[in-house]
Amino acid sequence: MTKTAIERDFPFEEIDPIADRESWRKEINRPLYHIHKWWANRLGSVFRAIVLGTLQDKSKAVWEGFYEKHNFSKKIVLDPFMGSGTTLGESLKLGAKVIGCDINPVSSFIVRQALQHVEQGDLLKAFKRIEKNVSARIRSYYETVDPATGERCQVLYYFWVKTVITPEGEEIPLFSDMVFSRNAYPSRKPDSQILCPHCWAISVGRFDSEDHTCPSCKKSFNPQLGTTISGHSVASKTGNKYKIGDLVRAQKTAPGHRLYALMVLDPSGNKRYLRAGQHDLDLLKKASEDLHGLKLPLPTLPVRAGNNTDQARSYNYFHWRDFFNDRQLLCLGLLLQEILLIEDRLVRDHFLCLFSGTLEFNNLFCSFKGEGTGAVRHMFSNHILKPERTPLENSVWGVDGKSSGTFSTLFRSRLLKAKEYLDRPFELSADATVPGVDAKIYCNPPIRTKVTRDLQEFEKAPSAALVLNGDSSCLPLPDNYVDAVVTDPPYFDFVHYSELSDFFYAWLSEAVGGEYPEFKRQDSSSPGEVQDKSPKDFARNLGKVFTESARVLKPEGVLVFSFHHSRPEGWLAIYEAILASGLQIAAAHPVKAEMSGGSPKTAAKHPINLDAIIVCKKGGAEKPILEAWDGAVRDYQDYSQRFQAIGRTLSLGDRRVILASQVLKHCSLAARTLGSVEIMLLRVFDEYDF
Ligand SMILES: C[S@@+](CC[C@H](N)C(=O)[O-])C[C@H]1O[C@@H](n2cnc3c(N)ncnc32)[C@H](O)[C@@H]1O
Repeated sequence: MTKTAIERDFPFEEIDPIADRESWRKEINRPLYHIHKWWANRLGSVFRAIVLGTLQDKSKAVWEGFYEKHNFSKKIVLDPFMGSGTTLGESLKLGAKVIGCDINPVSSFIVRQALQHVEQGDLLKAFKRIEKNVSARIRSYYETVDPATGERCQVLYYFWVKTVITPEGEEIPLFSDMVFSRNAYPSRKPDSQILCPHCWAISVGRFDSEDHTCPSCKKSFNPQLGTTISGHSVASKTGNKYKIGDLVRAQKTAPGHRLYALMVLDPSGNKRYLRAGQHDLDLLKKASEDLHGLKLPLPTLPVRAGNNTDQARSYNYFHWRDFFNDRQLLCLGLLLQEILLIEDRLVRDHFLCLFSGTLEFNNLFCSFKGEGTGAVRHMFSNHILKPERTPLENSVWGVDGKSSGTFSTLFRSRLLKAKEYLDRPFELSADATVPGVDAKIYCNPPIRTKVTRDLQEFEKAPSAALVLNGDSSCLPLPDNYVDAVVTDPPYFDFVHYSELSDFFYAWLSEAVGGEYPEFKRQDSSSPGEVQDKSPKDFARNLGKVFTESARVLKPEGVLVFSFHHSRPEGWLAIYEAILASGLQIAAAHPVKAEMSGGSPKTAAKHPINLDAIIVCKKGGAEKPILEAWDGAVRDYQDYSQRFQAIGRTLSLGDRRVILASQVLKHCSLAARTLGSVEIMLLRVFDEYDF
């Protein structure tokens, strides 16, 4: 049987430096997959190489064609776990037709907007109209007066703190320290903003100062000490100590907040900090009153119980609406109401996608990253739903290009950038660090594809993306239909996609629930979602999708996916799923994983920087000569030598990824049982002397 290029080898030596560069600014280097938040996006350059390896003439090495223009218009690539659409975008650039399916309605919605060509002029026209109709009103809720100068200033950010009430009726703010703003590089710029715990005045002091005197009330205090004790408890004035969790639960409603400071832009364009004053409280009151006097499209869905959602629920966040304060609800509601007036459905859906993405930076789970960096730490920085004790309120519309994560800035940095990428899709140069070498290589044709939900339309169009929403264990496709399956399944217990995406779903379902059936539900989850529960459930559901993918895959095609895990159970579940599908693992190659640092990998004891690319076939792969374990160890040693040759140090986590994936390959080729694979995987994780 013929061999595809990816069965023979994968050029990680060449791909890794490009992937590394991409990983530092993924949103700039592949804006197509960052038009909206999605979790665990894979690297476009890695997936370009994978797709090439599955489609390229078998006589050619993958790397040879990396910067060439291709036209695989006769080929169809399927991704049954589409996510943000990385496989789809990369395959379209190579000229192939693509089919993507995701069980999550939010994923399908954003991929449809990402891949669809829209005239930039139409987007600009709609933006101007929204700006004309609502921006002044929204911005009026983000103004203040500097008491020192009497000048009107625009507010960039409001600084809030959560409070708890003790049984004595005392309200205690939850500060872990009193330095509320410091530079991202404090040793270079030590000046920070300090809040006085006595009179709540703000003043400047060193970020590490342990003795500070408030210029307003003249009291001295240690700014490194906050109002909480070891982060878990608070003490009342009477000396009683209470656990924060107990006080929050006793309250029955989401914790209260107190506004203490603002970062403003003064009329000369300078950023300044101000103490929160009466004017700001009055404006907030007005926003609340205005909100209650209007009928705006706001989320009504409850937060269901779940792994991540329970973190929010333990703080009494029982409705998605509770994630926002009244000003945010008002301004977001006004914006959404205006977007819904756009008549052209395609343009409207693009703005809904932008709007939904804006939510991530405009809610009470956001916090301040510090000066000298993108100021807003968005709510999903850790793939979880952790209530924020000191939330940062961003301005929904944005302030004269000076703010980040706002509707007006994301319009340019996300929506327009993604559309520009469709017009001029580029690859990153491997030699970009060499002076005079252009960092971008424009070797791809523009992406002009028909994005459809309908198979007949897909078949008729010369370039087409069939973007489906549903469970990929049951695809509406004929047998032996696609040339390759290239995907990235959920990683067992890493990300709870639908629990997190419910945050966006709650708004989108209000907006388009009447039009798209997948937005008529109570939440974004579905029974077939491949998600942890137990390794057995994960393996069974994944096996169903692999089985279905194998059905629609042509006999000579390959199913390729990326994976890593820090525990043997994760790898065993993968083996079980492949076994169930009747596929065989023909090859396993290491490659750079999606992030350089960042959770959840860095949270693990042994950080993992590699993914394994697992290449599966319907049969006919060459049988190895060595025993499974010996063969796996030999391949592992070959790979470690190759990494050594390029000066790459492998962490223990990386070494385990390589060896575990080779164990899977050799066991699959030798048709080993689950029991014997488990024994070998335990050896990889517990005994093997790396
Ligand atoms: C790891 S993500 C894919 C990320 C993607 N490679 C990217 O770069 O954005 C896995 C995806 O599988 C989806 N999923 C889980 N179970 C599914 C199923 N049964 N059918 C289709 N999609 C499913 C999840 O909603 C999630 O978007």
